[in-house]
Amino acid sequence: MPSTHDQTASPAFDLAPYKSLDNEELTRRINAVREEMGSRLLILGHHYQQDEVIALSDLRGDSYKLSELAAKDEQCRAIVFCGVHFMAETADILANRPERLARSGGRRVTVVLPDIAAGCSMADMAEIEQVEECWEQLGEVVDCRDILPVTYVNSAASLKAFCGRHGGIVCTSANARAVLEWAFARRSRVLFFPDQHLGRNTALAMGIPLEQMPIWDPRRDELGGNEEEAIERSRVILWKGHCSVHQMFRPEHVDQFQRQYPGIKILVHPECMMEVVAKADVIGSTGKIIQAVAEAPAGTRWAIGTELHLVQRLKHEHPEQEIHFLSPVVCMCATMYRIDLPHLCWSLENLAAGTPVNVIEVEQEVAEHALTALERMLEVK
Ligand code: 13P
Ligand code: SF4
Repeated sequence: MPSTHDQTASPAFDLAPYKSLDNEELTRRINAVREEMGSRLLILGHHYQQDEVIALSDLRGDSYKLSELAAKDEQCRAIVFCGVHFMAETADILANRPERLARSGGRRVTVVLPDIAAGCSMADMAEIEQVEECWEQLGEVVDCRDILPVTYVNSAASLKAFCGRHGGIVCTSANARAVLEWAFARRSRVLFFPDQHLGRNTALAMGIPLEQMPIWDPRRDELGGNEEEAIERSRVILWKGHCSVHQMFRPEHVDQFQRQYPGIKILVHPECMMEVVAKADVIGSTGKIIQAVAEAPAGTRWAIGTELHLVQRLKHEHPEQEIHFLSPVVCMCATMYRIDLPHLCWSLENLAAGTPVNVIEVEQEVAEHALTALERMLEVK
C-alpha cells in the first residue's frame, strides 16, 4: 500500500493499476487498511454484493438494516458503502444528521461509494421534476392535503426530501406494509414511487383492490395517462417504475418448478410482479428471505426469486437445503456487481491516505428534509 504520510496535497491514486492485481493481493491490502483504521472505518455490504466483497464487509444487511447500522454507529469516521448510490446517500444523511454532528463536535462521517457508477435503474425511473409535476396535476383533481407521498428507499435523496416536506415517509421492502398502514392512519390516499410492484403487492395484501390503484406513467402528459375519475377513486397511485432484475421472474417459472417438484416452496422479493407474488409461499425483503431459509428444516426445497448473488450464497451457506434459482436466465444486478475488490481497495487506500474518492455528500437542504422522511421510516417497523 502506498505510504499514508505526506499525502495531503497529493492527488488520489489511480484506479487503473488496481485492476491488474489478483484477489489475494487486493484482500491483503484491504485488510491492511481495515487494521490501520480500526473502528474509525465501517464497511457496509448489501446482500446482493459479490462473495469476496461480503467477506470483507464489517456488517451486511438489507436496505433497512444497513440504514439502521449507518444511523447507529457512533465511532466510525468513514463508511465505505458496498451497495448502490441511493444507499450511500441514505447512509450520509443518517450518519451526518444534526444531532450526531453535535455529538461529534461537527466532524462529518465521510461516506464513500467504491464505484460511482453503481446506481439503481429503478431509482432513476422517478425524477424530482416528474414527481413535482405529478403532485401539481393531482392537485387539480383531488386535494393534495389528503395524499401522503411514500417513496421506496430505492430513490434519489431529492425524492425523500419531497416526502419529508409533504408529511410523507420512506419505506423499504422490509417495512412497506407498516408504512402504508402509517400513511392510511393519516391520509386517505397514497402516492407511491418509484416501484409499482412493491406498492401494488403491499396494497393488495392489505385488501386494496386493483381498481383503486391507477398507474401513473410520467411519460404521459395528462394525469400520467389516467382519467380524472380513476384518480378520484384511487387509494394508492402507483408510479410506473420497476426493477429490471426482479421483473425477469415470471409466473410460468413458478408453474414449471411446481410441476417438476410438487411441494417446493416459492420465496420471492416483493419487487417481483403480482402474478409471481400471488403464487409464492413467502414474500419478503432480502433480510426476510435469508431468515426464512435459515429457519427452515433440513431438506426443505426452495425456488428463490431475487438477485443471483444472494441466491448462490444461500446455496453455499445451506447445503442441508435444496435451493434453486427461480429463473432460467441470469438475473443479477449489474450495478451492484460494479463494486469489486479493485474498486474497494482503491477507495480504501485513498481514504486512508487522506485523498478520499467517490465521496457521497447530500446537499444540506435536501438532506434536512430527506432526514425527516427517513426518521419516520426507522420508527415504523
Ligand atoms: P432490500 O430492501 O431487500 O435490501 O432490497 C433492496 C433492493 O434493491 C432490492 O432490489
Ligand atoms: Fe435497483 Fe433492482 Fe439492483 Fe435493487 S436489484 S439495486 S432495485 S436495479
